[in-house]
Amino acid sequence: MKIYRAKNYEDMSRKAANILSAQIILKPDCVLGLATGSTPIGAYEKLVEWYQKGDLDFSEVTTVNLDEYKGMDRENEQSYYHFMQDHLFGHVNISAESTHLPDGLAADSAQECARYDSLIRDLGGIDLQLLGLGHNGHIGFNEPGEAFEKGVHCVDLTESTIEANKRFFASADEVPKQAYTMGIQTIMQARKILVVVCGEEKADMVAKVFCGEVTPAVPGSILQMHRDVILVGDEAALSKIPE
Ligand code: F6R
Repeated sequence: MKIYRAKNYEDMSRKAANILSAQIILKPDCVLGLATGSTPIGAYEKLVEWYQKGDLDFSEVTTVNLDEYKGMDRENEQSYYHFMQDHLFGHVNISAESTHLPDGLAADSAQECARYDSLIRDLGGIDLQLLGLGHNGHIGFNEPGEAFEKGVHCVDLTESTIEANKRFFASADEVPKQAYTMGIQTIMQARKILVVVCGEEKADMVAKVFCGEVTPAVPGSILQMHRDVILVGDEAALSKIPE
């Protein structure tokens, strides 16, 4: 695992965006696995800036997002579809057909999971998967549990995730209770993984995930078993990881 220590959020965002753009430059028709949440927003801003300067071209890139709320219309401002339009897709030259997220409104959950799984397989897998880290150690919406979930599946969100995500909604009651997410196996099959973390409140979990026991009780800990993980964090988030 490579660890890049950033001075602050801005520096973390630039370092992460550099890694994402290196992937696009080295393989223009790459498949990027993308994440939502507050941590990657600064990196997306950098990618948009570099695209606008003429340094990046998304015309051959394909993206697959980690997750989407179940029951959420993509036009809803809180949908992850909307988030991706706002922060990246709406500002770069990527075609709508090349961007993929689970369909929150799919009538049949099992069918939707199978569709998304085979879509990723048909694309030839993910070249670079971007991940944030939940306060409870989740990656995607793989919540702490008894076993590492395999492929794309539908999950019940934990109270702590609902609590953490309520900042985006009028109240906790409005946070959807279920979501579609890539499974641990889907994520682990990505050829390269980039994890971004920021802030002191993540420091204990970052240490548990990357230096603690590998256990489904801390879903992100499985990343210790992946052979090509890059962790980019600010000083506060990495403060409990030994130098
Ligand atoms: C987002 C996702 C989540 C977030 C995690 C961290 O697509 O799958 O796992 O990455 O909840 O969120 P932030 O960055 O808001 O702390």
